[in-house]
Amino acid sequence: MAETLTVTHSATGKTIEIPIEDGAVRATAFKELGVVSYDPAFLNTASVRSAITYIDGDAGILRYRGYPIEQLAERSSYLEVAYLLLFGELPTQEELARWSHEITVHTFVHENVKQLMDGFRYDAHPMGMLISVLAALSTFYPEASKVDDPVIRLEQAVRLIAKVPTIAAWSYRHSLGLPYVYPNNDLGFATNFLSMMFRMAEPHYHAKPAIERALEVLFILHADHEQNCSANAMRSIGSSKVDPYSAMAGAAAALYGPLHGGANEAVLKMLDEIGDVSHVPDFVEAVKAGTAGTRLMGFGHRVYKSYDPRAKLIKQVADQVFEQTGVDPKLQIALELERYALEDDYFVSRKLYPNVDFYSGLIYKAMGYPTDYFTVLFALGRLPGWIAQWEEMLNDKEQKISRPRQTYVGYDERPFVSMPDRA
Ligand code: CMC
Repeated sequence: MAETLTVTHSATGKTIEIPIEDGAVRATAFKELGVVSYDPAFLNTASVRSAITYIDGDAGILRYRGYPIEQLAERSSYLEVAYLLLFGELPTQEELARWSHEITVHTFVHENVKQLMDGFRYDAHPMGMLISVLAALSTFYPEASKVDDPVIRLEQAVRLIAKVPTIAAWSYRHSLGLPYVYPNNDLGFATNFLSMMFRMAEPHYHAKPAIERALEVLFILHADHEQNCSANAMRSIGSSKVDPYSAMAGAAAALYGPLHGGANEAVLKMLDEIGDVSHVPDFVEAVKAGTAGTRLMGFGHRVYKSYDPRAKLIKQVADQVFEQTGVDPKLQIALELERYALEDDYFVSRKLYPNVDFYSGLIYKAMGYPTDYFTVLFALGRLPGWIAQWEEMLNDKEQKISRPRQTYVGYDERPFVSMPDRA
């Protein structure tokens, strides 16, 4: 028998029976009772039916299109995962070759983008630059506004995946006053990005295979995470049928915040502030007492109530990277922080475990990226997820312009008070 939820309004005595579908009831059913559902920050509200990413937060499970993240991280490439997220299936050899070629031949950006980037101050935060240039891309591709055309949509998806690494790398070069390095179509996705970031006078950039693979794995781990703050921004902005560049500028802005993708940068700042392993207990006590001026950054998650599976995998990547680069002394502080917090009832009782951002910053730092660049790397990884979420939203017949309801708690009508009479 189909499951239902029976609700009775105590004031009117009216009863409704609402079907439960995939564990959810439709909030619109409450209209009949004259009430709305109130759920600030979507704590218990599904806003979409999605087939992209599955998370079981209690069991620490993450799957893209059904494939466990552990297997994807071990055996696939970033472009393969991007394909999987966008098209729903792993590509065949031929499909992957075609897809990689498409991305490779779209990596160049219009020369005017360089001028745009030159307009930023030397110390502009790279996320501010990325967000602005993403929005600016819509002016280079005005046809992108035809979001109901699947062919045009796919063209923009390719452009975004191909060009954003170029823009991201150039934002780094700009901050150092270094000449921009153009994409090299002979290189694979990750090596090309590393070349645009770090190449100096050498004719060809050679990345260490372990570093290149680590970057690829980090991108895979960040590629999607169902209805997080930035994916929700991408969907919500995109629901107005604006072009994907403008919607993605909004998604990237959401990611920039320290409670979301900006946490990786905040973790490093926190480790700097702690300064020494011996200061860990005092710092944790201050966090608990609310006097540290911060939460324990890189800890806690809305969905994961056990160890974030991405954090587990990232620890393995850290070992591989540190083997090449040497261990950052801050790792000891991070390890002690994790050990100390996971034995503390405050964190245990609230199920606060390290999340994806706790160790990723240390790896990025060891790889040579400046602290304020970490969130850009998160954005690069998350790009296919944002596009897949946007595409799914546009194809979903049930979706409309995103527009929450509110419960008004302000003044009732009152007459205008002229200036001399105001208190
Ligand atoms: N340090 C100390 N206390 C915390 C932390 C933390 N990092 N996170 C949550 N809490 C406490 C919080 O104060 C609250 O306690 P109480 O019940 O006594 O009021 C309780 O745990 C529940 O927290 P919440 O704020 O209701 O949880 P949320 O689901 O709204 O927030 C979060 C999730 C990720 C924003 C939060 O855990 C946090 O701020 N973490 C630090 C920032 C961070 O690492 N963000 C990256 C998230 S993973 C990458 C991504 O996908 O964005």
